[in-house]
Amino acid sequence: MSYDEFYVKSVIRSLPDWPEPGVLFRDITPIFKDPRALRMVADAFIHRYVDTGITHIACIDARGFLFGSILAHQLNLPLVLVRKKGKLPGDTIHQEYKLEYGSAAVEMQSDSVGAGDRVLLFDDLIATGGTILAACTLIKKLGAEVVEAAALIDLPDLKGSALIQEAGVPVYTLLAYE
Ligand code: PRP
Ligand code: ADE
Repeated sequence: MSYDEFYVKSVIRSLPDWPEPGVLFRDITPIFKDPRALRMVADAFIHRYVDTGITHIACIDARGFLFGSILAHQLNLPLVLVRKKGKLPGDTIHQEYKLEYGSAAVEMQSDSVGAGDRVLLFDDLIATGGTILAACTLIKKLGAEVVEAAALIDLPDLKGSALIQEAGVPVYTLLAYE
């Protein structure tokens, strides 16, 4: 099924002033109620990353999990989790970061990736870039390489995707809201 940006954008819902005044929230949950939109999005990413030498998919809590799991299954790759702090058992490392709204910390299990691994980092959306940059820091600390950071949505006005690229990590997004 070929990717139709106009159709996918028509499915994503935009909610003003949520979760706080001034934020225009881009809600991806309707994509999961629309198999046509979900298949378009998933197929576009699968097509991009098939046979590229990526060894692992790392996906970000929580909306990134929804897509990451589909990609890992379809690309037959191991999936590792970047979770909000305090959710993962065993030996972990964590990194603080700032959000468009609030601040948080992400965490990975210390044995999730390591030297020689070539990781695709996946989330639903890039806003300020803080979440992806924190995840990149963790993956690099564990000795692995972030081959690309991918997301369904970019909010370029918040300059996150530019920051990530300035940090030396290529970025790929399917659509943008200016
Ligand atoms: C949202 C979104 C990204 C992040 C992007 O997650 O899913 O992970 O914000 O923002 P940034 O580029 O400014 O870091 P959120 O922390 O709201 O969590 P959720 O996925 O659990 O809803
Ligand atoms: N995460 C950070 N900013 C967001 C936004 N505007 N819409 C959806 N998720 C977000």
